[in-house]
Amino acid sequence: MNKLTLTIATLFTAAAAHALTTNTLVIHADQGKSTINKNIYGQFSEHLGRCIYEGLWVEPDSSIPNTRGIRNDVVEALKKIKVPVLRWPGGCFADEYHWKDGIGPREKRPSLINTHWGGVVENNHFGTHEFMDLCDQLGCDAYICGNVGSGSVQEMMEWVEYMTSAANSPMANLRRQNGRNEPWKVRFFGVGNESWGCGGNMTPDFYSDQFRRYNTFVKNYDSNTVFRIACGANGDDYHWTEVLMADVGRRMNGLSLHYYTLPSGNWSRKGSATEFGEEQWFATLRRSEEMQTLIQRHSAIMDKADPQKRIGLMIDEWGAWYDVEPGTNPGFLYQQNSLRDALVAAITLNLFNQHCDRVKMANIAQMINVLQSMILTDKEKMILTPTYYVYEMFVPHHDATFLPADLTCEDYALNGQKIPGLSVSSSVDVSGTIHVTLANLNPTVAASLTCTIAGASPKTVMARALTAPTITAHNTFDNPTSVKPEAFTAIQMGNGGFTATLPAKSVVAIELK
Ligand code: AHR
Repeated sequence: MNKLTLTIATLFTAAAAHALTTNTLVIHADQGKSTINKNIYGQFSEHLGRCIYEGLWVEPDSSIPNTRGIRNDVVEALKKIKVPVLRWPGGCFADEYHWKDGIGPREKRPSLINTHWGGVVENNHFGTHEFMDLCDQLGCDAYICGNVGSGSVQEMMEWVEYMTSAANSPMANLRRQNGRNEPWKVRFFGVGNESWGCGGNMTPDFYSDQFRRYNTFVKNYDSNTVFRIACGANGDDYHWTEVLMADVGRRMNGLSLHYYTLPSGNWSRKGSATEFGEEQWFATLRRSEEMQTLIQRHSAIMDKADPQKRIGLMIDEWGAWYDVEPGTNPGFLYQQNSLRDALVAAITLNLFNQHCDRVKMANIAQMINVLQSMILTDKEKMILTPTYYVYEMFVPHHDATFLPADLTCEDYALNGQKIPGLSVSSSVDVSGTIHVTLANLNPTVAASLTCTIAGASPKTVMARALTAPTITAHNTFDNPTSVKPEAFTAIQMGNGGFTATLPAKSVVAIELK
C-alpha cells in the first residue's frame, strides 16, 4: 500500500469509527457572575414589506381576529416566546419617519412613499399609539428609533415629550387629545439608525457630534429614564467604535452593532433560503460564528474606555439574509426560514449569552415576514418558523445567571475549512434549575457528549430537540409543522452530570434540577 492509499484507508477507518463525534463539557455551576439580560432575546419590527402591515396590523374592521387592529394569532404566538423588547419603526425607515404623520384619526393621516422598501404607499395607520398598544399587548418594552437622518432636533425632542411627559405641556396635551391620558414608558431610544449608511452616510466624527446634539434634547420626563442608544458600527468597522467611545463615551448608555449572515458573503447573490447544499450550510454557519470575533473586538475597544462595562453593546440588527423568495417584491425582503436558520439562531444566541457581560440587547431582524422571522403570514394563515422555536427553547435563559463552561469538541470540517462542531451556553435560573442549550452543526454526524456539572448535583433531566430529516426542511402554509421541537430522550443522568447523543443538525435544550 502506498502512502496515499494508506492515508485514504485510514480516513475510511476513521470515518467508520466516527459514526459519532466525541465531545466533553464541564459546566461551572458555582461560578455564575453575570446575568443574561433578557433583552438579548429582543425583536425588531420595521415598516418594511409585510412586517407591520399584514404581519402585525390588519385594521380593526378586518375579518382576521384582532384587538384594535393588531392580529390576535400573532400576539398569542409571540407571548409564548416572551418578547422582552421591540425595536420600531426601523431600520432605514426610521430616518425617513416623521412621527406626527402617524398620530390622530387614521383616516386623516398623510401617506408617504416608502422609498427604501419597495416604493409602496405607507398610509401611516400604524403609528405611535398603535405601536405602544402592541407593546402593551405583548408585555414588552418599547425601543423607539429616532430620525437623525432627515428629521430635526425639535422633532425628536417633541416625540419624546409626546410619549413620556405627564405635564400640562403642548405635546403631552396633543397626546391626550389623541386619546391617551397617561404617558407611556419608553425605556430605550435610539438616536438614528445606520448613520454610516442609509441614515445619512455620516462619518463617525460627524455622527458623534450629531449624537451629542440630538441626545441633549432627549429628555427624561417624570419617572421615565431613557436608555440612550447610539448608532454603532457596520460589522467590522472598528474605527467607528473607537471614535464613538472617545467622542461620545458615557453620554450613551448603549452602542449598537449590525451584522447580517449572508451564505455567499455577496450582497448581489446572497443565496437561497431553501435551495442549498452542504457547502452553503457550512458557509452560513461559519459566517454566523463570525459574530464571536465582532463581539470580542468591539468589546475590547469598549473595555479601554469603559472597563466597568457600563455601556452596553446592543446588537440591534442581526440574522440570516438570503435572496428574496422567488416572485416576491425584492424590496420586501421576504424569505423562508429553514432548519439552517434554527442553527444560525442557536449559535448566535449562545454567543450573546457567553458575552452577556457586555451584550445587553440584541434584536433579530425581523419579527414577521421579513428576513429571519419568527412568524410568516399569508392573509389569515400564520406559521411559526424554526427560528421561532429556538427562541421558545431559549426562554429559560432570560435574566438567568450565565454559567461558564469548558467545551472540548470535534470540528465540523468541509472542503479544507473547519468550525467547532458544537455550540453551547448554560445558565441557572432563580429556582436553581440549570439550563443548557446546544447545537450540533454537523449535518450528517451525531455528537456524543459527556457533561460534568461542577459545583452542583442535579438529579433529574428533561430535554427537547429541534431537528429534521433534511438541512433544508422548513414549515409551509400547507405543512406548518415539519420542523418543531420534540421531547429528547437520548440523554441520561449519572456520575455528576449527563451523557447525551445530540442528533446531527440539531438544537437541544436541556433542563437539569
Ligand atoms: O433589516 C433590514 C435593513 O437592514 C434595515 O432597515 C437597515 O437598518 C439594515 O440595513
